[in-house]
Amino acid sequence: MSEMQNIQWFPGHMTKTKRQIQSSLKLVDAVAEIIDARIPISSRNPDLAKLIQNKPRIILLNKCDMANQTATKMWIDHFEKQGITAIAVDCKSGRGLNKFAPAVNKVMSERINRLKAKGMVNPMMRIMIVGIPNVGKSSFINKIAKQNRAKVEDRPGVTRGNQWFTIAKNLEMLDTPGVLWPKFNDKIVGEHLAFTGAVKDQILDIELLAVRLLDFLKELKPADFISRFKLEETDLDIIDSYELLKVIARKRGMLVSGGEVNTERAAIMLLDEFRCAKLGRITVEMPNGELK
Ligand code: G4P
Repeated sequence: MSEMQNIQWFPGHMTKTKRQIQSSLKLVDAVAEIIDARIPISSRNPDLAKLIQNKPRIILLNKCDMANQTATKMWIDHFEKQGITAIAVDCKSGRGLNKFAPAVNKVMSERINRLKAKGMVNPMMRIMIVGIPNVGKSSFINKIAKQNRAKVEDRPGVTRGNQWFTIAKNLEMLDTPGVLWPKFNDKIVGEHLAFTGAVKDQILDIELLAVRLLDFLKELKPADFISRFKLEETDLDIIDSYELLKVIARKRGMLVSGGEVNTERAAIMLLDEFRCAKLGRITVEMPNGELK
């Protein structure tokens, strides 16, 4: 899997991206980092803290419609304990987006108060979105832009081409997100990104990936997974998950000539159903959990 990620993020590409983000960062007062609520560890960029230095930041746990609700609450508490404001959002439906502007105001209150103390009336704050590919950056920006039609253009001193949206009385957002890279040297991170469909399947061994997903699901035992495939307790005790994939293929009637099961079709179907939460709202990574 590291091979695949190198295709997306060769060093030259990374340097260019880093430079782009650094120049956008100069224009903003705070950063909103979008991560995937199902994989809050693997969907974070390892270098972001260094890149944004001491700018205030807020975390958006996106795709919370597909993540376990209790786990998402635990993640929000986990980030709060580290002094980071985090909110759960669903950029497909727009749920949770109304919490965004108040949360940004909260993280910037210190700066706002400082400027007010200097005599500035209603100082304008600017924020940008960052996140790894497929995490929902465009979905977020489109939803916010629809809710807040007024565009701010031709601001003096701001690079031509940058567009800003007013998202609250004193808050503007840059319409171009910063695209970050994931921690691509870590095999488990690569797997978890692939489970959620954040990386392209064409360059992965789909059956191997399905087997790894089954290793995880066998342990977690989500009710929807068990009922959807009509699994017995003994099925979940199968040690070799490739055998479990065969059981699932058979239960779904995925056979090839000669009575053999079609494990490739079963693997594609399993991953598809996981990715659209048909197997339940499943969070793969828990706070303080070791990646396994
Ligand atoms: P990016 O800019 O960070 O690369 O991500 P983008 O917004 O393109 O979102 C990637 C995929 O994730 C899209 O699906 C998008 O609809 C989906 N998505 C984004 N936010 C959410 C969310 O909160 N919940 C759910 N369930 N899905 C979300 P797609 O299959 O690529 O396109 P489509 O299904 O929208 O056509």
